[in-house]
Amino acid sequence: MPGTMSSAWSARGELAQGLSGLLLVLFVWAHMFFESSILLGKEAMYWVTGLFEGKHIFGQPYPWLVSFIAVIILLLVVMHAALAMNKFPAGFRQQRALYRHTGRMRHTDTSLWVVQAVSGFLLFFLIPVHLYTMIVEPANIGPYASADRVWSGRYWVLYALLLLTVHVHAAAGIYRLLMKWAPPRRGALINRARARRIALGAACFFILLGAASLIAYMKIGADHADRAGERYHPATAQAPLALKE
Ligand code: HEM
Repeated sequence: MPGTMSSAWSARGELAQGLSGLLLVLFVWAHMFFESSILLGKEAMYWVTGLFEGKHIFGQPYPWLVSFIAVIILLLVVMHAALAMNKFPAGFRQQRALYRHTGRMRHTDTSLWVVQAVSGFLLFFLIPVHLYTMIVEPANIGPYASADRVWSGRYWVLYALLLLTVHVHAAAGIYRLLMKWAPPRRGALINRARARRIALGAACFFILLGAASLIAYMKIGADHADRAGERYHPATAQAPLALKE
């Protein structure tokens, strides 16, 4: 029964795409909190960097742990994108037909589908650049190393584009997942309007948090530009205080 077989596969593909998308969104949201530790100061970001290198557990840093996580994330991104591309032509036809039939009624959801397809396409180019850097230079993360990359390495352009695109894509994805797995019913906890508010709220919050962190990295990078490449050492940073004593 080829029809049944292919619909079983497409149901599995649908589930895998939703699940990989959900994992990626949760990763990116958590990542925004860790990476925004720079807003609490250089010392806080230095501590978070050590955490991901296993320094607080093993006593010394193992930057390859960061590369390992980044490879897993890259594989998830590739899988998610491949599944999305697979259903793109049919999805596009479906959305167009739906729009033609229902006119204005579903207009927002159809536009949202287009927003998600376009942002997903852009992310396909933006994410690998960032992940490649994290995979090949895992030891080059920290208050000065990151700020130097952002400012002196001009990565702020990539990050500003990535920040906007990924949070628009993630919010649209969360809205669609909520609509799919918790379909709006009368009296349901999540209705269409509430799902929209959750998605919009998350996008605004993370874009603002990311923009504030990016500005913090840019400022530190600009102040440190003449010493770009020099690493942050808490002991050195505290030296002037120690001298005063
Ligand atoms: C294991 C994988 C990842 C690691 C270790 C990582 C690490 C970092 C670090 C340390 C920064 C600060 C700047 C720098 O050092 O260059 C940063 C910035 C950023 N990352 Fe990631 N990242 C990862 C994956 C991702 C993914 C998958 C996305 C999005 C799809 C992403 C989106 C961003 C954005 C938007 C910024 C700029 C943040 C801002 O504007 O404040 N990252 N990342």
